[in-house]
Amino acid sequence: MHWTINPSPRAAGSVTVPGDKSITHRAVMLGALAIGESIIENYLPSEDCMRTVQAFESMGVRIDTTGRFLRIWGNGMNALTVPAGGIDAGNSGTTVRLLSGILASRPFSSRICGDKSLSLRPMKRIIEPLRLMGARITAIEDNYLPLDISGTGMLKPVAYVSPVASAQVKSCVLFAGLAAAGITSVEEPVKSRDHTERLLAACGADISVDGNRVAVRGPARLNPLTLTVPADISSAAFFMVLGLVAKTGWIELRDVGINPTRDGILEVLNNMGARIRLNSRRNLSGEPVAMIAVEPSILKATEISAAIMPRLIDEVPIVVLAATQAQGVTVISGASELRVKESDRIKTIAAELGAMGAHIEERPDGLVIHGPVKLHGATVRSHGDHRIAMTLAIAGCIAEGTTVINDVGCVDTSFPGFLETLQGLL
Ligand code: S3P
Repeated sequence: MHWTINPSPRAAGSVTVPGDKSITHRAVMLGALAIGESIIENYLPSEDCMRTVQAFESMGVRIDTTGRFLRIWGNGMNALTVPAGGIDAGNSGTTVRLLSGILASRPFSSRICGDKSLSLRPMKRIIEPLRLMGARITAIEDNYLPLDISGTGMLKPVAYVSPVASAQVKSCVLFAGLAAAGITSVEEPVKSRDHTERLLAACGADISVDGNRVAVRGPARLNPLTLTVPADISSAAFFMVLGLVAKTGWIELRDVGINPTRDGILEVLNNMGARIRLNSRRNLSGEPVAMIAVEPSILKATEISAAIMPRLIDEVPIVVLAATQAQGVTVISGASELRVKESDRIKTIAAELGAMGAHIEERPDGLVIHGPVKLHGATVRSHGDHRIAMTLAIAGCIAEGTTVINDVGCVDTSFPGFLETLQGLL
């Protein structure tokens, strides 16, 4: 499947992007582990999140996805049954890494596989801490899918110091800790997104946070959740940048999650001189949200380094596009994690925006972008990566001539309806 994008000098309108992907995954998982009925409003019905739903359905959990609300009837962790035929996580890293923490303590064997891209992504980062807790896991080269997890029934608590700032690793260990008798803790070099901590607290788990260290006491009995998921800031980011680089117009994004562990994009765009305002701030089911308003802006280059990366990582491709329109040289460093995302995003964004005329140098741990440049239409491809596809679509809106983006089916992993929302703003 491909998209054809023609330039549009104007971008205007008010939109609500779909619900947060990270929160939806966690809400499904915790709802399945809780005892009782969980009701999740504004969940993200994307392919990635449906992989998590299907995994729990295959373990005997009743889940209704037919209405506006996602309903989950959990019977507790001990009620999960052997997933018939194994679990296919598709393209979803969050499904594999978080689910492994749950499966590690189940008294049955299970296998998780995934698509070609997911099968190239490192799993050692979760295998190591889970083994320290007594889990039995095998993987190709001890690192790649499929993962075979043979249940132990009981795990040991651990005080894990993670070498990477990763919410997936942190959440995996905390989920495993729910079934270990005693206190399991995870400490990370920089604080990663904290949705798991917020939701565990909402479920009544005994959880404590001290700086970059989070601890949970097991065994835990979880209460069901009733929550409304904020709009995903990672999806909103594409339209923030569209509103800034358009020639005329304005864009408003409603009820966007602005959790301080996710808001690096706001800081970076502010540093670049963006005309961006946050209004109507409120709390939505334990997460801060706001209406984000952007207007066309004269952007200037900025420097982005390791400290902000956990708060920014998924937004780097669209920041690179903004930097191609900014005055000066933008330097992004400390971002080597980008190489192990749905594609090697350092390489793919440099190559594809490069094909549209951008001046981008690749570095082992980042990118150097020379701006501003006038982009031109080209035939480009997503490399199977949703965030690369959406970045290229926004690039197409400001390029001269027609842009054809190949292999865009992957966008449904995080943002079904992206193209229609984009067209509604042009
Ligand atoms: C996610 C964490 C991040 C992020 C990913 C979603 C999550 O990955 O890039 O898109 O929901 O926990 P890492 O934990 O690998 O940094």
